[in-house]
Amino acid sequence: MTATNTNDPLALLGIDHVELWVGNARQAAHFYRTGFGFTPVAYAGPETGLRDQASWVLGQGSIRLVLTSSLRPGTEIAEHVARHGDGVRDVALAVPDATVAYRAAVERGANGVLEPSDDKDEHGIVRRAAIATYGDTIHSLIDRSGYTGPFLPGFAPWTSVADPLPPVGLEAIDHVVGNVELGRMNQWVEFYERVLGFTELVHFSDEAISTEYSALMSKVVWDGEGRIKFPINEPAQGKKRSQIDEYLDFYGGPGVQHIAIQTGDIVASVRALRDRGIEFMRVPDTYYGELADRFGDVDLDLDSLQELGVLADRDDEGYLLQIFSRMAQDRPTVFFELIERHGARGFGEGNFKALFVALEREQALRGNL
Ligand code: FE2
Repeated sequence: MTATNTNDPLALLGIDHVELWVGNARQAAHFYRTGFGFTPVAYAGPETGLRDQASWVLGQGSIRLVLTSSLRPGTEIAEHVARHGDGVRDVALAVPDATVAYRAAVERGANGVLEPSDDKDEHGIVRRAAIATYGDTIHSLIDRSGYTGPFLPGFAPWTSVADPLPPVGLEAIDHVVGNVELGRMNQWVEFYERVLGFTELVHFSDEAISTEYSALMSKVVWDGEGRIKFPINEPAQGKKRSQIDEYLDFYGGPGVQHIAIQTGDIVASVRALRDRGIEFMRVPDTYYGELADRFGDVDLDLDSLQELGVLADRDDEGYLLQIFSRMAQDRPTVFFELIERHGARGFGEGNFKALFVALEREQALRGNL
């Protein structure tokens, strides 16, 4: 079934925003603005009546990114940052009715984090609730249909000077990946199936995703329409510690590993990001010799892909181009992916091996392999 089932109390409209809790939101906002080409949208903090936190909202395409810091020790935000470092707190979902969605989710076994409540200002009303997912991560459920302000009630517009650099062209969130502990992947797949009505899109065994040293298992759940895709990884046994183990160790438990963002022109986007100082993972150059064999019948700019380190993969339905940023913070936890899809609905499984070799090279440099 592909049409939206309007009778489903948990009909999800898409990802409303992603909120990171960070040590210094002002500086993180500068990083995502200057480095990743996001533009200022809204701000909330002491100047707008918030006593204990500051939040900076940035936008690009349909993506909303929120960066929040505690202004004091001992708050929930400060404790989260002390434990996890900078990380994703909330993958917020847009819903037609937050109360109905929350009640349905809790009835289906979700743990409530925030009871449905209304926030108002002169721009209207937003109703939001929240449920827990893996680790300390939550899903806010947000109905903003009655609201015209820049973000949420309490936020002021954030106006600033124009970005002097060329635009990056990031369009939408493609998928958000969670890392969970060994043996927990199926439990969280079942959670998304039961609570949010998701279905399993695809899964990858540790044989498909293994290197000499480490391996992982991955399953992808989605809303059936492609608006929301959540791959979930767990470590698998390898000779040495897997990249997922490294994440779990340094994040202090399960959490979001990477956010994949769609672009219509990955070569142009990567060039713009590199000019802004963003660094990407590189696979060995031998990868591109093999790529020419696999893509002989597709008109790809292999020279540019190799120059920039962009990866390519194909399935029955088409192909995709993708690249992974280096870590977005000192802890080896959260990073970003850029993806340009041409029909393919996969996640680049043909690249997993080459990519993991590159990831492990960096992991080894950190002394964590
Ligand atoms: Fe991905």
